[in-house]
Amino acid sequence: VSKTLKALAEAPDSVFRIWSLRQRIEIEAAGLFAQLGRDLTTLRGPDDEVKKMAEAASRDEYQHADLCQAILDEGTHSYNTVVTRANLNSAPPNQATYLGPLDATLENRVLYTCVALGCVTETLSTALLTDMRDKAETGIIKDTVHKILVDEISHSRIGWAELARASEERNLSWLAQFIPDMIGEALNTDIGPMLSREEKHLDLSRWGILSPARAHDLMNDTVNTVIRPGLKHFGIK
Ligand SMILES: [Fe+2]
Ligand SMILES: [Fe+2]
Repeated sequence: VSKTLKALAEAPDSVFRIWSLRQRIEIEAAGLFAQLGRDLTTLRGPDDEVKKMAEAASRDEYQHADLCQAILDEGTHSYNTVVTRANLNSAPPNQATYLGPLDATLENRVLYTCVALGCVTETLSTALLTDMRDKAETGIIKDTVHKILVDEISHSRIGWAELARASEERNLSWLAQFIPDMIGEALNTDIGPMLSREEKHLDLSRWGILSPARAHDLMNDTVNTVIRPGLKHFGIK
């Protein structure tokens, strides 16, 4: 047994609980990017570059779910196999693949989704994953976090790329009212609620998990120094 696998075998239950939550989030993201790809096809045609990025992102997210599964497989816990790739393919289409106000036009829904997923969620993930990677133990955890980080950087570009071109076409200030909710939603899916009061104070960083306090600081910093100024640049303030 390699040193890393032994280390994972010693990991507390909370580590697997969180990687299992991450797997679920990856699968949700895969569904959302797939829908975004379909919507962009309708709106901009099959050869659209941002559409292709969204489709690639959907494939990446399924791969991330598989990577999470490989970590879960190292545990002797009951969090294994939430959804595997095999049964995903035969699962009915996820109904919750639309983001934004129900009455939004297709054009506005696409923009909302790009901003919520790319500019907010993926940009925040990038900040968290960078810190996680620096602290993670060499081996499966560091490799996994690194691979996910590299992909999430390109997923965040989907948001900024769509925003850049849409801002050339029309005024985007209507989106401003939705930004606090998008940010709130992203903060809520944070790991904090997954941990007991005692667990919140454990150092789980070698297993790729930041403390809720550290995650909150990083997210607030990213909102204030990257996301808000970026959105403002495109007239969303
Ligand atoms: Fe992902
Ligand atoms: Fe992603």
